[in-house]
Amino acid sequence: MPALVLLGAQWGDEGKGKATDLLGGSVDYVVRYQGGNNAGHTVVVGDQKYALHLLPSGILSPGCTPVIGNGVVVDPSVLLSELSGLNERGVDTSKLLISGNAHIITPYNVTVDKVTERFLGKRKIGTTGRGIGPTYADKINRVGIRVQDLYDESILTQKVEAALDVKNQVLTKLFNRRAIAVDQVVEELLDYAEKIKPYVADTVLILNQALDDDKVVLFEGGQGTLLDIDHGTYPFVTSSNPTAGGACTGAGVGPTKISRVIGILKAYTTRVGSGPFPTELFDEDGEALRRIGGERGVTTGRDRRCGWFDAVIARYATRVNGLTDFFLTKLDVLTGWEQIPVCVAYEIDGERVEELPYSQTDFHHAKPVYEYLPGWQEDITKAKTFADLPKNAQGYVKALEDMSGAPISAIGVGPGRDETIEINSFL
Ligand code: IMP
Repeated sequence: MPALVLLGAQWGDEGKGKATDLLGGSVDYVVRYQGGNNAGHTVVVGDQKYALHLLPSGILSPGCTPVIGNGVVVDPSVLLSELSGLNERGVDTSKLLISGNAHIITPYNVTVDKVTERFLGKRKIGTTGRGIGPTYADKINRVGIRVQDLYDESILTQKVEAALDVKNQVLTKLFNRRAIAVDQVVEELLDYAEKIKPYVADTVLILNQALDDDKVVLFEGGQGTLLDIDHGTYPFVTSSNPTAGGACTGAGVGPTKISRVIGILKAYTTRVGSGPFPTELFDEDGEALRRIGGERGVTTGRDRRCGWFDAVIARYATRVNGLTDFFLTKLDVLTGWEQIPVCVAYEIDGERVEELPYSQTDFHHAKPVYEYLPGWQEDITKAKTFADLPKNAQGYVKALEDMSGAPISAIGVGPGRDETIEINSFL
């Protein structure tokens, strides 16, 4: 019953695609359990680079069945264009499975996302503008459209009517926009229905049967722990649960089935969008991290905010996810610094605080308390084992492990598939 969860331990963009892909060859199913096309995985296979937004990265491993679980929100136009893009490059996508219970990102939800952000002005969340929040809001408000609704025109029409009832009032009276016509939406959605049909399945049943048959199932989180709607830096979060519990609800497997929870941890910290970020840098070090690390969003093309490693956040991720391991990524980006600051605690209103404060106000006031670790100058991208790393790089990894509360079982030393040091096997 090997069920692994792989998730971001910071604010997303930790390099999960690489980690998932590393396991892809030995995994039978890769399952996305939350989020939508707000995610962005970059996977490098040989000399080919793939940017995936909605599809699970297992789609690039021929033996693996990729699954979009019930907890995901699906934009059908994005799904179809991502599939055809891969097909054009010779990738077989026919094994994809999509839960009939996954919710559809409708065109009006993309509109609502954008107009709401504009309306919020300087209080905006900095969303990806992909309709994620409004689609999850509809789901919770019980006016969402599910994949299965595409196959019953009468139900679909009633549901779109119900969803647009209030939204059109808001759009026209508050946002001064034109009302959206029910027929037009229904027509567009029905147009996608047949194209998506071959993939739609009872994924909960299939995944539980696979686990009973001792297949290896990997649950792949989008975004990251600090973007979790319950455990993140609310309200500057996404609208789903990237944390480990989300794998259970978003894929329909019980917690007793999960054997390992791996947190992907970047060797420094980045964030996109608004919200607090204690170790954020506004100087040339931040600029250097952004440049060397290629810190630009796969989905939005926005520059990422960059800062030093924050051990308080890593400890928090260990706790809320029950992490069994870390996969440390992008260690090579830190090559060349004399000393590397690491945030070990915060100072909040003159007091030293070791753990993430639950109060939003306190977190906004948190100042990093740094320890300075000696850097290394040697190229580490060819390192195959931990012993190949320079002493100071080894020391940096060990220090992060001690501060973060779970063993570091793999280290990324470059973007390529083979530029990884495996310390403990994940399987
Ligand atoms: P939304 O998910 O589009 O609603 O955006 C909410 C917040 O999550 C914004 O700050 C986004 O920048 C952030 N976000 C969403 N998806 C990702 C991701 O894949 N990586 C990093 N940040 C993300």
